[in-house]
Formats: sequence, C-alpha cells, structure tokens
Amino acid sequence: MLITGANSGVGFKTAETMVYLGAAVVMACRNAEKAAAAREKLLAEYPTAKISVTPLDLADFSSIDAFAERLPDVDVFINNAGVFHRRGEKTKDGFDLVMGTNYLGVFYLGEKVLPKLAERGREVAYINTISIIHKVARVNFPRFDDSRGAYARSKLCLARYSRYLAEEYGDSNIRVYMSHPGIALTPIAAHFLGGMNALSKIVPINSAEKSSLAAAWILANEPPVGSVVGPNKLFGGWGYPKLNRTCRRAKRDIEPLIEFTNKTIEARSAVSRAPASAEGRQENVV
Ligand SMILES: NC(=O)c1ccc[n+]([C@@H]2O[C@H](COP(=O)([O-])OP(=O)(O)OC[C@H]3O[C@@H](n4cnc5c(N)ncnc54)[C@H](OP(=O)(O)O)[C@@H]3O)[C@@H](O)[C@H]2O)c1
Repeated sequence: MLITGANSGVGFKTAETMVYLGAAVVMACRNAEKAAAAREKLLAEYPTAKISVTPLDLADFSSIDAFAERLPDVDVFINNAGVFHRRGEKTKDGFDLVMGTNYLGVFYLGEKVLPKLAERGREVAYINTISIIHKVARVNFPRFDDSRGAYARSKLCLARYSRYLAEEYGDSNIRVYMSHPGIALTPIAAHFLGGMNALSKIVPINSAEKSSLAAAWILANEPPVGSVVGPNKLFGGWGYPKLNRTCRRAKRDIEPLIEFTNKTIEARSAVSRAPASAEGRQENVV
C-alpha cells in the first residue's frame, strides 16, 4: 500500500491503521526528515512492520516523473497529500501552489502511474482525497490558475478527474474511488485552528484518526467504482465513514476539463523544455 503525504495528519493516521492491520506501507513524502521521523514513530509502536519511504513532491513534475520511474508494486494507492491556502506561492513548474499540488500534481501523477499499474495487471484500489468544500466551487477556465478559491476549485477538479478515471478504468484491474476526511483537526487547518478550536467546543470535529478510516472502509466494503466515502454526520463533516456524494457540478463538463488540463500541462512542459530565454513567458501559458 502506498500513501502520499503519509508523514502528517490523515495520511499518517491512515498509515498507522494500515500498519496495525498488517499491511506493508510505502510513505510517499516530499520532506525526507519528516518522513523518517514519522516512520520511526510507527516502528516504535510496531517494530516488525514493513514501512518504507519514497520521495514525492507533487509541486514538481520532475519529482513525479522520478517517482513514476521507480513506482513500487502496490495494491492500494492513496492520493492523500494536499495543501491549503498558500496564496501567491507557486509550484516548481510555475502554477499556483494549491491548484498545482492538489489537482495538477495529482492529475500528472495519475497519468504517469495508472497506465503502469494497469499494465501490471494486479488489482489496485486507487483513492483520491477530495473535500466537502468542492461543493461551493466553480471551474472557470480563464481563472483556473488564480489563487483565489483555489483550494475548493482544486478539489472540484479532482472530483471530476476521479470520475473520469473511474469511467476510463472501469473494466480494468484499477478501481478508482474518492474519499474525504470531513473536517479534521490536522496541520493543514493550522491557519484557522483558532476558529476551529472555538467551533470544536460547540460542534464535534473529527480527529485525524477517525477521518483516516475512510480508506479502510473502502477496502473492507469494495463499493462501486467512482464512489465517494466520507464521514456520516453533519453533511459529511463529522463521524465515521459511509458512502457520500459529490455535488452535481462534479459530474458535469468532465471532458472539457481533462482536455484543458492536458493542454495546460503540455504547454507548461514545452516552456520548461525551451531555452532559458523563453522562461519569462511562463506566466501566460494557462
Ligand atoms: N483536515 C481537513 O479538515 C481536510 C478537509 C478536507 C480535505 N482534506 C484533505 O485531506 C488530505 C490530508 O490533509 P490533512 O488534513 O491530513 O493535512 P496535513 O496534516 O497538512 O497533511 C498534508 C500532507 O500532504 C503533504 N504535502 C503537501 N504538499 C505536498 C507536496 N507538494 N508533495 C507531497 N506531499 C505534500 C504534507 O507534507 P508536509 O508535512 O511536508 O507539509 C503532509 O504530509 C489533503 O488532501 C487535504 O486537502 C483535509
């Protein structure tokens, strides 16, 4: 089993649950020190566990290329890693950091690893992590790479891409799902932790541990491909996992998004490959 962003929050707790259940876990993380510390923490509790670490930075296409080259043989692939609210920051390839990581990075990764996993023929559960906040988003192509509203938009795009993949790989050995953690107290929410702490006194907010059970639920229940699994209470905000739904917009305009995304990535890659004098034009590609 492979989990991206497994050093922290929901990803770490997912790794812990899976190790507890006896799975061999590959932690795909961007920060080697944090990953090593997380691995040590798990090994302290489960000394005989099989846990390895592999580098993966979703905000850098070259890192994704390198990761895909040495793709481990896995039967579960959980795209958990994500970022929230990093206005103005960019990925290595020049995209808005939030869109570039949560959607374009996961898209680029999927396009690299899924054909390989399909070719290997082994049954794979492939789980993309969305968010209930996708329900308030809109996809507007001229503002696609705008940092305003990027988090919700990135998760709406990811939901559409997941639906596309579920259809595309429907009859194959790859079973594509979506999960979401509801609202969980993790480092990603650090910028509004004060608000959440106050809110958590009035309404229950999930622990990372409870939210992490979505992956185990999917593996135990094998719902239909394309299913979404998230908390069962407060409109998907809190509780134990059960089948959830995406909003209607996640089912619409999938083909135009996939076409646009492919063109956007290809255009940026072409600029990256071009001589240094062309680098100044990068800002206008999307
Ligand atoms: N917490 C919530 O309420 C909530 C709600 C809805 C959806 N989600 C989603 O749940 C997932 C897990 O988030 P979390 O709440 O557990 O937050 P978290 O504790 O901050 O974990 C996020 C993980 O993603 C990693 N990551 C960030 N950018 C990356 C990159 N460019 N390449 C590789 N890894 C990267 C982080 O690595 P570093 O430690 O190195 O930063 C960290 O391991 C995310 O996809 C998030 O969008 C969370």
